[in-house]
Amino acid sequence: MKKVGLVGWRGMVGSVLMNRMVEEKDFDLIEPVFFTTSQAGKPAPNFGKEAGVLIDGTDINELKKMDVIITCQGGDYTKAVYPKLRESGWQGYWIDAASSLRMDDEAIIILDPVNSDVIKSGLANGTKTFVGGNCTVSLMMMGLGGLFANNAIDWISSMTYQAASGGGAKHMRELLSGMGVLNQSVASELADPASAILEIDKKVTATLNSDGFPTENFVVPLAGSLIPWIDSDLGNGQSREEWKGGAETNKILGHSDIVVPVEGLCVRIGTMRCHSQAFTIKLKQDIPLDEISDMLAGHNEWAKVVPNDKESTLAQLTPAKVTGTLNVPVGRIRKLAMGGDYLSAFSVGDQLLWGAAEPLRRMLRILLE
Ligand code: HSE
Repeated sequence: MKKVGLVGWRGMVGSVLMNRMVEEKDFDLIEPVFFTTSQAGKPAPNFGKEAGVLIDGTDINELKKMDVIITCQGGDYTKAVYPKLRESGWQGYWIDAASSLRMDDEAIIILDPVNSDVIKSGLANGTKTFVGGNCTVSLMMMGLGGLFANNAIDWISSMTYQAASGGGAKHMRELLSGMGVLNQSVASELADPASAILEIDKKVTATLNSDGFPTENFVVPLAGSLIPWIDSDLGNGQSREEWKGGAETNKILGHSDIVVPVEGLCVRIGTMRCHSQAFTIKLKQDIPLDEISDMLAGHNEWAKVVPNDKESTLAQLTPAKVTGTLNVPVGRIRKLAMGGDYLSAFSVGDQLLWGAAEPLRRMLRILLE
């Protein structure tokens, strides 16, 4: 049985990963070793398998004993440990949720329902480093996989509606705290159906802009507002999150250059863990809508085509409906007024599942095949 080192299993993405590994009985197939950066020597968790004690996650000699290491510990850990581990001569497989190694030539971005060919040929050629993609990119490709697979796309504009969880657990708490503060500021007025809505709005706006409003993590209010910038400023008018769209999509597809441009605006909104995206897709040719639906629905078992009517959209195409599931519904599919080769679509997906944890455990399964 392969020795699999797990790092960062206690954090938010790590916990989602552990849950999925239990659900899919992955632990039956491995000898798990749990690493820690703070509690070495304490009992390891038991996810259906006894695993002894926690091992120091910075101990290269211990890490070297692993056949596979899966880390959700974050980019700083990867930067500190990965080079030393490789320099020590370790030849094991490194599976990482963090972005630090994503664009390295030695790494493949993993999303096997979309790029199993790239993964398989990488394995055959000796690739040992596999990194989960940016959540927005992975969810776009899961939803639109059928169009990519049929080489039907000229370019995509993606306008995103990204959840608080993309920032981390503290960001989710801040969103909820902000919602509570707003509600509290007008609780008495809300209880009175006769109160004036514009007075309520005035108080809400004053609360949003008050010094005490929770903004430690997002810098500005998210509850009752939105933030049209995600990740760092590249200095050319583009955010790093927006740059990832084109760069990572093409790397996932195994292109060494930008063959399919993906461009747009990335926006943080007040949802918990589902990222949504509105797409304008320039097709290479005018493909009938029924063929497009067949391509999308037939590509993988999680992409679900939602009929483009109001009732279906409200019932199936919202974060409230999708959260906690692996489904990536795609709806609002129609041809735009610009011409038969211009398509609109809207997708929703849980960014902690396909956007983070799921590709990691599926990569482990590929290694165990
Ligand atoms: N960068 C993403 C976000 C999450 O902030 O929503 C991680 O892929």
